[in-house]
Amino acid sequence: MIKRDYDKRYLLGGAIACSQADGGFREGGKGISTQDLRYLNPAWTPEQIEEKHQKDPFSKKEYDTALKSDGTKYYPFRRGIDFYHHYKEDIKLFAELGLQIFRTSISWSRIFPNGDDAVPNEEGIEYYRDMFSECHKYGIKVFATMVHYDIPVNLVEKYGGWKNRKIIKFFERYVTVLYKRLGDLVDFWLPFNEINAAKFSPWDGVCLIPGEEENMDQKIFQCLHHQFLCSARAVQLGRKLVPGKPVGAMIARFTTYPATSKPEDNLQAIQDDQYSNWFYLDVLARGYYPEYMKRYFDKINVHIHFESGDAELLKSGTVGFVSFSYYFSQVSTNEANWEKTAGNLIMTKKNPYLKESEWGWQIDPIGLRFTLNQIYDRYHLPIIVAENGLGAHDVLTEDHKVHDDYRIAYLKAHIDQLDEAVKDGVDLIAYTMWGIIDIVSCGPLTMDKRYGVIYVDLDNAGNGTGKRYKKDSFYWYKNRIKQHKKTN
Ligand code: BG6
Repeated sequence: MIKRDYDKRYLLGGAIACSQADGGFREGGKGISTQDLRYLNPAWTPEQIEEKHQKDPFSKKEYDTALKSDGTKYYPFRRGIDFYHHYKEDIKLFAELGLQIFRTSISWSRIFPNGDDAVPNEEGIEYYRDMFSECHKYGIKVFATMVHYDIPVNLVEKYGGWKNRKIIKFFERYVTVLYKRLGDLVDFWLPFNEINAAKFSPWDGVCLIPGEEENMDQKIFQCLHHQFLCSARAVQLGRKLVPGKPVGAMIARFTTYPATSKPEDNLQAIQDDQYSNWFYLDVLARGYYPEYMKRYFDKINVHIHFESGDAELLKSGTVGFVSFSYYFSQVSTNEANWEKTAGNLIMTKKNPYLKESEWGWQIDPIGLRFTLNQIYDRYHLPIIVAENGLGAHDVLTEDHKVHDDYRIAYLKAHIDQLDEAVKDGVDLIAYTMWGIIDIVSCGPLTMDKRYGVIYVDLDNAGNGTGKRYKKDSFYWYKNRIKQHKKTN
């Protein structure tokens, strides 16, 4: 159990990820990461961007071009919002908000530029020490993700990335440095962002290019097995090197309701949940592969290669908390013609009772309470809601205001449900709202899908002043946090 050094009330915070925010490409000794290779043509129409995002998340051609880095194309993640040079002013704004916890990710390629280097990059370590110290200066706790989709590209080039078991040793070296050199400044650790992303977005999840692998399912699940082992090692090393600092697991939660009361739909809902969500948390929180996956693996012809000691490692490296991103809910049915809509990482089936965001993601605040209860019942571990927020087109007025009442309504509805879940008995540690400051979106790679309560003046091509402006939601969240703290 997690020993709390704060009151029982959960923490309200904000989250970003290094690849989407930092920029600082090749500065401070940073190596090239797998996310640095993702490309956007800002001249594309929104439809073309969406089509590219849905159909061809990452191609071999793009990979080859990006590796040459000829400078003729636009790689939004190399620019981010230049948090690398602005973190002091941005964290000051977080402090003004009253943020209690800040989630970001550490770039492996900033600590070990090639992934297999014998010694870490001191400048990279210094950057994170400074950034995290800045948070602590204002009393903001730090929640750090070790891999938010990006790994040093050299590990893919030289070893095949997650396909190769050798990556576990490199990961251990990386984690050991993180614990030893940053351990005093980090309050919560997360080895992997949304570990279930691999099946839906293979490049992000496990650095595999769709269409380039034979028996893709086999490769994906073997890569995942290596990530499970890495997570277990991170837990074991954490117990030794950063005792008392919890190490957790995270999935992208696809909350699922049966579309009707038909038994077939109910069975489908259970299976959708098992295969795309529970499997991952079951392994990481319970410490073994669940029985239901045997049948599924047989069906898709997957045989996980276990080496001696793997089962024991999984068993002994179970996590101290679970976390998830929550953006939508969906319905499950085996009816083929059911209407579809987009969701985070996947296409989903429509629920006629829900409204959608501009990107088609179904908005369901009650689903958040439902999810928290479900996950707490299943694992009886403390929970962090690691991501939740609304992607929207915002308009900056001439006097530099953003009237985002739609975001305020979204946040209020969801945070109200957190309070309900806590009353239900859920042990909630924290809520880190996604994209507390506008960042490059992860799917479409654009700036105009904005989540923040702080506006960043940059467009899809990276043009703009880069200046930060407080949206109406900034003042709303600030007040909510203030009220929240009073009830502690
Ligand atoms: C999550 C990712 O899946 O969804 C984030 O962890 C991402 O990195 C978020 O930004 C929202 O998705 P998008 O595509 O709207 O940025």
